[in-house]
Amino acid sequence: MAETRSALIVDDERDIRELLVMTLGRMGLRCDTAASVGEARSQLQRNRYDLCLTDMRLPDGSGIEIVSDISQKYPETPVAMITAFGNVEAAVEALKAGAFDFVAKPVDLNVLRDLVRHALDLQEARKADTDAVASRLYGQSPAMTSLRQTIAKVARSQAPVYIAGESGVGKELVARTIHAEGARASGPFVPVNCGAIPSELMESEFFGHKKGSFTGAHADKPGLFQSADGGTLFLDEVAELPLPMQVKLLRAIQEKSVRAVGANSENPVDVRILSATHKDLSKLVAEGRFRQDLYYRINVIELRVPPLRERLDDLPGLSAKILGRLAEAQGRPVPTLDDGAVEALREYPFPGNVRELENILERALALADGELLTAEDLHLPRREEDSRAGVDPRNLDPRDTATSALPSYIEEIERAAIQHALQENRYNKTRTAQALGITFRALRYKLKKLGID
Ligand SMILES: Nc1ncnc2c1ncn2[C@@H]1O[C@H](COP(=O)(O)OP(=O)(O)OP(=O)(O)O)[C@@H](O)[C@H]1O
Ligand SMILES: [Mg+2]
Repeated sequence: MAETRSALIVDDERDIRELLVMTLGRMGLRCDTAASVGEARSQLQRNRYDLCLTDMRLPDGSGIEIVSDISQKYPETPVAMITAFGNVEAAVEALKAGAFDFVAKPVDLNVLRDLVRHALDLQEARKADTDAVASRLYGQSPAMTSLRQTIAKVARSQAPVYIAGESGVGKELVARTIHAEGARASGPFVPVNCGAIPSELMESEFFGHKKGSFTGAHADKPGLFQSADGGTLFLDEVAELPLPMQVKLLRAIQEKSVRAVGANSENPVDVRILSATHKDLSKLVAEGRFRQDLYYRINVIELRVPPLRERLDDLPGLSAKILGRLAEAQGRPVPTLDDGAVEALREYPFPGNVRELENILERALALADGELLTAEDLHLPRREEDSRAGVDPRNLDPRDTATSALPSYIEEIERAAIQHALQENRYNKTRTAQALGITFRALRYKLKKLGID
């Protein structure tokens, strides 16, 4: 017989306690109750619970104290906070103190049931084998080891996580790992590139639309939130969200429900929000280009993925992993890097991080015939070009002071685009020109002007 699961319910209002006991009871949980922080503490000393639900305002203190107590002394027990409707601060505070989720008052029973289900799934997930994805996020350096530990911790929570890091460092891989190691692993993972959706379609993409709600809406269409129901929505390049959309998104996240374009009613959705950008979001907030309230809401937990040059010790192992994967896909023997090649990689600054390393190794594999790759096989951009070759146009911003002069900003973009196209086309100028959509002569002119040889 399966063990009966138990929950502790903390609220000073009797009606609410009864409602919660009844709802959880119908889900097969045995419930204890407490009406104050003191009572909750003594219950927690006597029993082990599979879940704790606590109100915020209690006669002898705050529910936050219970949350901190549990996350320090009984970390195996997921605790969720019941907050006043629309009280973003309380919800965020609870999540920061270690609550795995929150539910707004008046409690929507559907939302509550989803929350309970996730809390219980969580313990299953902890037992399940999650090596598969985690091992893909390779890295033995102290920075990566500690990142993986943090991921394991935040995966147990339902709190929004904001993933910061340069281009190509593995932000999406981190998001996928958080999803795969958490209670939502069996639900969908829906990545969305916020910079790629035209702003006029954004609301309908996110929230869906009803048939006939605008020209071209021939049928009902579910939005990304509905597609991610029960799982995770990954807002990639979140800095690109237009301001009006930020308001709507904040509302959906806060109220856990969405209204499709042309619909009369809201529908509850159960989605965990992860987000990422290679831009400095706090700086954008300071400049008024990203809403402070949304920033505050999605950035409850912040993870920073370190650039490759801060974890040079990972280079040999990571390169071997990547080479192994590439060679296997092509049915070739796995090549190794000689000492000179490893040394050359350690000296290279990797502005494009792991993605760039993948590209470099893929090219080396395609061009080299032996099974030992040398520094020459890597064709790393030369030293004096480093600072220029490393520019990723997506990292540039005309409003940045460092690139304030428009002509030099445009030049940097051109240079990065040309250098990238040259690499992609293995330095064949005819094909590079084609790829860039310019004539051979125009390319030759630009190469000269920009001093690229
Ligand atoms: N630690 C790692 N171990 C193995 N592969 C990795 C690691 N980090 C990144 N990668 C690989 O590098 C590539 C880039 O990773 P990912 O797309 O997650 O980066 P990103 O930070 O989202 O990039 P961008 O800023 O361009 O969106 C992917 O192919 C990913 O699998
Ligand atoms: Mg990405």
